[in-house]
Amino acid sequence: ETHSIAVFAGDGIGTEVMPEGLRALNAAAEAFDFTLHTTEYDYANAEYYAKHGQMMPDHWKEQIGAHDAIFFGAVGWPETVPDHVSLWGSLLQFRQHFDQYVNLRPVKLLDGIKSPLADRKPGDVDFYVVRENTEGEYSSIGGKIFEGTDRETVIQETVMTRTGVDRILKYAFELAQASGAKHLTSATKSNGIKISMPYWDERVEQMAQNYPQVTVDKFHIDILTANFVLHPDWFDVVVASNLFGDILSDLGPAVTGTIGIAPSGNINPERKFPSLFEPVHGSAPDIAGKGIANPIGQIWSAAMMLEHLGETEAAQCVQSAFETVIAQRDSSLLTPDLGGQGTTSSLGRAVAEQITAQ
Ligand code: NAI
Ligand code: MG
Repeated sequence: ETHSIAVFAGDGIGTEVMPEGLRALNAAAEAFDFTLHTTEYDYANAEYYAKHGQMMPDHWKEQIGAHDAIFFGAVGWPETVPDHVSLWGSLLQFRQHFDQYVNLRPVKLLDGIKSPLADRKPGDVDFYVVRENTEGEYSSIGGKIFEGTDRETVIQETVMTRTGVDRILKYAFELAQASGAKHLTSATKSNGIKISMPYWDERVEQMAQNYPQVTVDKFHIDILTANFVLHPDWFDVVVASNLFGDILSDLGPAVTGTIGIAPSGNINPERKFPSLFEPVHGSAPDIAGKGIANPIGQIWSAAMMLEHLGETEAAQCVQSAFETVIAQRDSSLLTPDLGGQGTTSSLGRAVAEQITAQ
């Protein structure tokens, strides 16, 4: 089988970790006998912006829409382009135009990674955060009146549509149903936010009727964040609105280790449009150019992309390859954020070799 991938390395360490992501993908393609057509685009980065005054050319939709998936590094270079311009001009365009309404982030404690959850065994903590990515609290509806007076008033509305809520819930229930634990947790705050959140709860109850094998529980977002730290072993699939999911999906990687390993998928489950896979981290100007960025976030994102493309065995191989390399604790290979003295390419090459050897 052949998969066509649009590749954007982006800025800073994005350009350093991307080659390692591609190295892992190519090793997997060779081992599992499928073909990857990768096309690297030179836009959606600060250099392109400096030349053209915009992040992407006008024809990006047709060009990128024709691919099966998008493999993204990290965008942003605050010295030359304001962060809201780089983000809204590229990544958020992809998310919106390609209706990537699921933001999926695995939270997994790996053997060999130092984490604040030191008393937990790897394997105890292994779950997904499923975040609604298109509506909810992040709307443009609202405004400011009586500005500058003591009656100054600001309103920002939350938008929940039945279609929007049901489709994210359906995705999360399907994921839970397919998992061993068949257990779903919903993030709510219906005791405080008394119109939209009770609606969310109601839709969860409704959707649950279609999945009788899935056990459902819900927590208010405040205690849920505490439980991510205190009882991370309680979770399997956690589904949340845009804002709550945003918070949970940064908290997850924070409690399981370094941001350098965390991956994410921005997914259009219907496959009407390409989905986008990227590490959680940004372009890290503070370490860019030194060759020490951790490539695991990019490689793990590659594994998620393979899974999405239906290359399940290859995805599992990539996953177990980087888990094996990290668990070997060879500090000459591991990057400094993992406590080692290695480089981006020493770690990336070790993972690719492990993929081939497996
Ligand atoms: P950042 O994630 O780039 O860096 C935060 C800290 O984590 C830094 O100390 C960095 O050195 C470290 N770090 C990040 N990735 C690492 C890796 N792979 N290995 C080792 N250490 C790593 O976040 P920051 O500094 O807030 O943002 C920098 C730029 O990246 C900004 O322009 C921002 O807008 C952009 N950004 C882009 C994102 C994306 O493309 N999805 C996501 C987050 C930020
Ligand atoms: Mg965030």
